[in-house]
Amino acid sequence: MRRAPPAATAAPAHEDPAARGVLTAGVAEQHAALRAWGLPPVRLLVLYNACAFRCFFCASGGTSDRRAEDRTPWSAIEAHLSPALPAEGGRLIVAGNEPLLHPDFDRLLALAQRQGFDHVELMSSGTPLAAAGRRAAWVKAGLRAVAVPLYAAEPDVHDAIVGAPAFEVLVAALDAAAAEGVRVEVHTLALRRTAAALVPLAQMVSARWGTTLALAPLRDKEGQFDWAREALALPELGDLLGTWPAEVPLRLVGFPACLAPGLPRGAADTIGLYFRTQRQGFAPICGGCAARPACPGVVEAHLRAHGGAGLRAFA
Ligand SMILES: C[S@@+](CC[C@H](N)C(=O)[O-])C[C@H]1O[C@@H](n2cnc3c(N)ncnc32)[C@H](O)[C@@H]1O
Repeated sequence: MRRAPPAATAAPAHEDPAARGVLTAGVAEQHAALRAWGLPPVRLLVLYNACAFRCFFCASGGTSDRRAEDRTPWSAIEAHLSPALPAEGGRLIVAGNEPLLHPDFDRLLALAQRQGFDHVELMSSGTPLAAAGRRAAWVKAGLRAVAVPLYAAEPDVHDAIVGAPAFEVLVAALDAAAAEGVRVEVHTLALRRTAAALVPLAQMVSARWGTTLALAPLRDKEGQFDWAREALALPELGDLLGTWPAEVPLRLVGFPACLAPGLPRGAADTIGLYFRTQRQGFAPICGGCAARPACPGVVEAHLRAHGGAGLRAFA
């Protein structure tokens, strides 16, 4: 199996270099890693190109300001999209900085379709789905699921976080995509500024798109924002989830096993993969924990700011 040419840049400090390497590895290596992570061996294509949003926890030279000459070239896309293998079941995951803004996205879907991928799952900010004609073409070419972030159930908070007037356009686009048969998976981050928005957001996701909101941790990004001021620390989040209404669906991804152990875990594979690549650690208290083998650990910024606060060991 050919190996895709590397798509620029070494792993940033907040990413696990080995896990990041999987994102741009050849198909056989990706399948081995996915199986080791307990995930099915789908085809995984990660595109590096500029995103139009300015999320305070993400925007940087490698994401929003990525130069055109540093984006994933068509040659790498083409090399990675060899014919679908039976074990892949026609599934192709397309993720990256903002796949829908990559100039080769339409060409990519057309090639994927020719190569036998009929179930494309996308990680995206989602707003480009508002273009009805392009969306219809993407659905026709195999788009079946989209994993998008929403940071609140109303425009002001969400738009302030992504740095663009996005909420209204996004929700309408997701409604339209869902009506056309696309599965809509939503995730959000445990931020102080959105703590009060979590219950309405989970209700909205469940009522509108019939899926379960996934809540993920904020991680540091080389000190570009004040992590301790923005992130809900584990003790606060544990308290909040302790009062979570039983009828409101929520699942956790990327959090340690000891946080709200009664809540379900998991997210769309696209989002689960994203959090696998993020560097996590353990506190001394985790050393004897019976849940540790399957525990993702905790974001390193939490360990630096709060040590083992909010963590406990299972006997
Ligand atoms: C890197 S983005 C790329 C896809 C798309 N442009 C988007 O906005 O979702 C994928 C996801 O990473 C998450 N993310 C980015 N920076 C993060 C951070 N510092 N901590 C936790 N999650 C982060 C966001 O929630 C986002 O949905």
